[in-house]
Amino acid sequence: MIAAVVALPAAAAAFQVVGDAIPAPLTDVAGDPVRGRAVVAGRQVGTCVLCHAGPFPEERLPATIAPDLRGVADRLSAGQIRLRLADPRVVNPDTVMPAYFSQEGLVRVGRAWQGRTALTAQQIEDAVAFLMTLKEE
Ligand code: HEC
Repeated sequence: MIAAVVALPAAAAAFQVVGDAIPAPLTDVAGDPVRGRAVVAGRQVGTCVLCHAGPFPEERLPATIAPDLRGVADRLSAGQIRLRLADPRVVNPDTVMPAYFSQEGLVRVGRAWQGRTALTAQQIEDAVAFLMTLKEE
């Protein structure tokens, strides 16, 4: 008998929005800002740098279509940042920013991503932890 290996979709992404934030972390493991920098600044994972500039000296041509991420922790709380990563459409229905932790209403989802979220819950928490280090004051 040949055992079929079936990739089970990740559990449906669930989070609770309060106001314009997701106050509760998505995981029990605290976010790691070092891993989070790799998610945010790495061109392979979050693709954030295609739209956002920030303290990323390795980016020779900083993107300009989205707010510069420098000082984002002065502007937004961790919960507000978490919602903007998980599903920015809650804040701005017309946003061009991808919903990184949602499976709902997405168009043109590549096969590799069907039934999955673009980032895992832990990658979201790591990215939030990194972004909370971006203070200017
Ligand atoms: C396709 C372009 C695009 C990509 C990719 C993108 N964003 Fe955004 N982001 C935006 C735009 C545009 C805004 C401004 C608000 C809006 O239009 O929704 C924004 C807003 C934000 C905000 C709020 C900033 C503020 O000062 O209010 C944060 C935080 C953020 N993005 C983080 C990220 C992170 C982290 C990633 C990668 C995981 C990412 N974004 C990927 C376009 C993008």
